[in-house]
Amino acid sequence: MASFLVEPMNPEHITRVAELEKICFGNQWTPTHFGRELENPRCHYFVIQNKEKLLGYIGYWQILEEAHITSVAIQPEHRKHYLAQRLLCRMLEDCLEKGVQWITLEVKATNFPAQKLYEKFGFTVKGRRKNYYQAEKQDALIMWTENIGDENYRALLHKLKAEIPVLH
Ligand SMILES: CC(C)(COP(=O)(O)OP(=O)(O)OC[C@H]1O[C@@H](n2cnc3c(N)ncnc32)[C@H](O)[C@@H]1OP(=O)(O)O)[C@@H](O)C(=O)NCCC(=O)NCCS
Repeated sequence: MASFLVEPMNPEHITRVAELEKICFGNQWTPTHFGRELENPRCHYFVIQNKEKLLGYIGYWQILEEAHITSVAIQPEHRKHYLAQRLLCRMLEDCLEKGVQWITLEVKATNFPAQKLYEKFGFTVKGRRKNYYQAEKQDALIMWTENIGDENYRALLHKLKAEIPVLH
């Protein structure tokens, strides 16, 4: 089985991340956007790669003890292999190191795979923004975690990490 490397995003990754962004979201963010994000000390991004390819990325903004997930995306042909789960586990560890307590995000009301992923990580729906995605006339669900520093949440994170297949 292939082995994967998760590491902080750096400028060398940007072209490939923007290509993946285009595949998944139709070019919402250009390379310039990602370049600006990397220069902002509140923004934290990770990529997952194998030897051949950049397979996915995740990012969040930190505002004091809160984090807002901006995006998570995996190459279509590599989905359902725990890659997003790997990225989220890495991101959550980073959040804990940085003193984040609560995490939020917006997700399209029709994006069930993403909602299922977030639910697995203990996110629950706390609100709805009408027509948040204006081009598609779609609502956003607003999801939040409980306090990720709590013992219960740390136990969940431990369990989710343990579920990820070990690679040789
Ligand atoms: C959502 C996305 C990131 C999931 O990535 P992934 O690597 O396939 O997800 P994982 O294999 O790590 O799955 C982890 C969990 O997420 C949930 N999940 C992921 N894909 C799912 C699907 N197609 N249907 C239902 N649940 C799904 C499941 O709970 C899964 O755990 P399980 O298989 O033990 O039930 C991926 O589908 C993607 O890139 N989608 C397009 C971009 C996008 O919509 N991003 C979210 C923007 S808010």
